[in-house]
Amino acid sequence: MPDLKDIRDRIRDLNGKMAHGLDAAIDAAALESFRVEYLGRKGHLSQLFKLLGDVSPEEKGEAGRLLNELRDGITGAFEKRAAALSASSLRDRLLRESVDVTLPGVSRPVGHLHPLTRVQREIESIFLRMGFDVATGPEIETEYYNFEALNIPADHPARADWDTFYISDTTLLRPHTSPVQIHVMESTSPPVRIICPGRCYRRDAQDATHSPVFHQIELLWVEEGLSLANLKYVLELFTREYFGPGYTMRFSGDFFPFTEPSVQVHIKAPGATHWLEIMGAGMVDPAVLSGVGYDPEKVSGFAFGLGIERMAMLKYGIDDIRAFLTNDLRFVRQF
Ligand code: PHE
Repeated sequence: MPDLKDIRDRIRDLNGKMAHGLDAAIDAAALESFRVEYLGRKGHLSQLFKLLGDVSPEEKGEAGRLLNELRDGITGAFEKRAAALSASSLRDRLLRESVDVTLPGVSRPVGHLHPLTRVQREIESIFLRMGFDVATGPEIETEYYNFEALNIPADHPARADWDTFYISDTTLLRPHTSPVQIHVMESTSPPVRIICPGRCYRRDAQDATHSPVFHQIELLWVEEGLSLANLKYVLELFTREYFGPGYTMRFSGDFFPFTEPSVQVHIKAPGATHWLEIMGAGMVDPAVLSGVGYDPEKVSGFAFGLGIERMAMLKYGIDDIRAFLTNDLRFVRQF
């Protein structure tokens, strides 16, 4: 029959063991086994409480008080330990996941538009403001759209001016953007007011002013009553918007199979003595208009074609067309 002394001894034993057990509980899993071992239904504490039934009635009260004290002590120590463990694991996590905001960052350079794209968009926006739409067409064309529909029959010597790369006997890489005019006129009735930017190809040996791959912008306006005077006005507006005030512009005679009359457009910077050629232009040849089903007695139109590289070179003083395609960042970063 256990007496008060036995109970006291056992309590002292268990308190000592408990302190060690709690020290050893260094993570959540160990803490849980501690709880089961000491505070669980079959744990040390409830084993001790079972003895209480055998203690003599005189000592029972005191033994019960001591055991309750023991239970409160173990529970309290356990809870303290649990709180400390979760605080330290939070501290670990915060340390592990913290960001040192004083470290230098990884910078990701922001790119910018290629000078050709910039010039193309700048020219587009000038004509968009004048009420033109942007139209595009395929880079691989048939001979019909590239030549015949533009009034250049098979045996015409002018074909040599647009010598290009053939894909098959009848398809080729377009040497100019003029075929887009034909596509648009075939699918819309007048008035037509478009500009057509795009890549072109010619069988040219590469040098400072020639590249087998280059870009053009074509303009086409077809409506009743248009004359060369309207073309000149549109080009004067364009010159002022793109190059700035003070430039003078002049027309001189030229020849293109698809325009009649045809002109070459030159500009001169303020104070300069040199005229610079900027594009070819002209009134759309009646044969081209009737070819797409328009009535040349009712409508007339004008067109021009300019080189985007050339416009960029003139504006920024670039003296070698190859610079646009060589991917030298020192070049493109200047724009
Ligand atoms: N297509 C001509 C060229 O590439 C340019 C041009 C377009 C001329 C429209 C007149 C009218 O050389």
